[in-house]
Amino acid sequence: MTGLTGMRSQRDRFADAVELVEGKLSLIAERDQPPDYVAIVISDEMLRRCGVADYFDKAQGAVHRDLRRAIKAMAMKYRIPTQLLRQQTIEGRDPTPAAKIAWNFFTGLYHKAGGFPWVPHGLQPQGLGKVRACLVGDGHALYVLDGQRGTGRRFATEHLSWRDRAVEGASQTAIMTAQFRAAHALVDPDPIFEDPFALALADRSAAEVLEFLAANVPDSCAHVVRLFVCQRSRFVEQEVERAVGGGVDQYVDLGAGLNSFAWRRPELMAGLDLFEVDHPATQAWKRARLTAAGLACPLNLRLVGVDFRDAETLGERLTAAGFDPARASVWSWLGVIQYLPLAAVRSTLGAVAGLAASGSKLVASYGVPDELMEPASREFTELTRAFTARIGEPQITWVAPGELEALARVAGWPRVRSVDPSSLAPWFAGRTDGLEPVGAEWLLVAEMGTP
Ligand SMILES: C[S@@+](CC[C@H](N)C(=O)[O-])C[C@H]1O[C@@H](n2cnc3c(N)ncnc32)[C@H](O)[C@@H]1O
Repeated sequence: MTGLTGMRSQRDRFADAVELVEGKLSLIAERDQPPDYVAIVISDEMLRRCGVADYFDKAQGAVHRDLRRAIKAMAMKYRIPTQLLRQQTIEGRDPTPAAKIAWNFFTGLYHKAGGFPWVPHGLQPQGLGKVRACLVGDGHALYVLDGQRGTGRRFATEHLSWRDRAVEGASQTAIMTAQFRAAHALVDPDPIFEDPFALALADRSAAEVLEFLAANVPDSCAHVVRLFVCQRSRFVEQEVERAVGGGVDQYVDLGAGLNSFAWRRPELMAGLDLFEVDHPATQAWKRARLTAAGLACPLNLRLVGVDFRDAETLGERLTAAGFDPARASVWSWLGVIQYLPLAAVRSTLGAVAGLAASGSKLVASYGVPDELMEPASREFTELTRAFTARIGEPQITWVAPGELEALARVAGWPRVRSVDPSSLAPWFAGRTDGLEPVGAEWLLVAEMGTP
């Protein structure tokens, strides 16, 4: 503390304070078994002496820095959820009600842990039986998850808020990817793809999305998050445009999640029957969000509930919904292969081939082995693996392009090719922000003969 309170400049004291906290945090983070979270208590003295720094920097001009923000930004690189607390909060001198402090503390950790329910190490809430994770709230609610999404029970809640989603069973990754689609246009001027309905369907504000990304994704791979979903959606929609131009009038979106194609592309919908295939729980979420957003379902949109691990039901369910296997169709399958065992990928490719008349086309995105990705995509994929495992939707399949092509051929697709995302570079031509295609996912294009 002496260095922080001595006769040094405000700027130096500020830098010393951040360094002091970082020294301790780095020691904790480098342990064999780092803790699940770290609470950093900032003393009143430190806040008084070093809470802000205002100075002039030759390169940056006038600079204003805030100690709490600087510590939070620094702490992110250690990838342990951290919570900053003031000394007076700990010592009970804070006039804020205790329930509010507790609520802020736990929701802060909830966000920082990636939005999944969090439990302090070793805590076993009394009387709740076998508990895997819990989120303790503002005195109103206590949630208990039994493990898999959708199986949670909610206790003693007095009000519903967005936090309740954790137990509603909709695909959390579908909600995430909708947010990622929104993030690109929120952050980057001149986006390669825009989804103005994504925030409403995900039930997030722009601020919530940006805050979540800032708190959970390091700068080094933040652009991957914003781009990979937009790349695949733009690619698919170009193929749908081409198909419609060629007279195809059926589009099947496998694992559609919260895709807003039906509302974003009315000009294409005018000539199409769209079949969105997904888990019924995700579709129920989507229906509720559509109602909340005042978006009516067009008559030519059908939601078809299928589990791809049971792909033989696909044909029967689609035809019951009005799909005609005798007519050509265009299919997308974005961001789903990673979540399926290879056997389900094979059987779904086969089921679709069996329903695809001559002139049909399927575009699927998939995760590739690490060595095919640039470092930022590798870093993002590593984070995603850990995150999806913790929310109960683990990513389990990464395939080499040649391997997936072979699988598709055996499944009945005569013409198959892989799209290396680097070939999408023309979409980024002339940009001054340095953005270029990211390699977190490749695309498979499979075609059924010629019309
Ligand atoms: C990462 S989201 C992608 C959603 C959407 N395609 C997009 O690009 O935003 C994965 C989607 O696949 C669906 N899904 C995952 N496994 C599935 C399965 N076995 N059967 C049916 N749908 C599944 C999820 O419900 C979710 O909507």
